[in-house]
Amino acid sequence: MLKPIYIVFGSTDGGAENVAECLQAQLEIDGKEARLLDRNSWHELTTGPAVCLAVVATTGAGDFPKNILPLFKQLSMQDTMYDHLSYAVLAMGDTCFGDTFCMAGKKMDDLLANLNARPLMPLTTIDASEVQNPMELAEPWLDMVCEHIEA
Ligand SMILES: Cc1cc2nc3c(=O)[nH]c(=O)nc-3n(C[C@H](O)[C@H](O)[C@H](O)COP(=O)(O)O)c2cc1C
Repeated sequence: MLKPIYIVFGSTDGGAENVAECLQAQLEIDGKEARLLDRNSWHELTTGPAVCLAVVATTGAGDFPKNILPLFKQLSMQDTMYDHLSYAVLAMGDTCFGDTFCMAGKKMDDLLANLNARPLMPLTTIDASEVQNPMELAEPWLDMVCEHIEA
């Protein structure tokens, strides 16, 4: 049976949220079961085998957007292992911010690895100072993720 695909996003100004919604729509067009999770449904990540795609922007000085910070904290405090989860993180940021480039996405990627979740792909970053439309990179990223899910 195909594993459900859960998409979580961290977004302040809507860019990462929009990417997450487009990815979900694309997955549904491809006939896959894909759901956007929010605060009320994050607990579904703890249930059976699943794929988690995390689209995480960085805000402030290397900070998590407010909407996803509780998930990061919740996962950081757990001693449950997430071996049942495969994941890929798409980090959105801007190299103008120097050392904090995509810091939140990097932290989420590290945390999922530390929880024993299985990476489908290495962390991928999107630099807002180079890319006008993030879907130009997010779409091929999704294609690669899907190849790894099916492999
Ligand atoms: C106030 C502010 C702070 C930001 N801080 C960072 C940062 O520390 N590191 C980084 O890589 N990008 C930073 N960014 C860039 C955003 O992560 C980037 O524009 C992203 O695409 C925004 O996604 P969103 O629209 O979902 O919030 C910042 C943007 C703003 C407006």
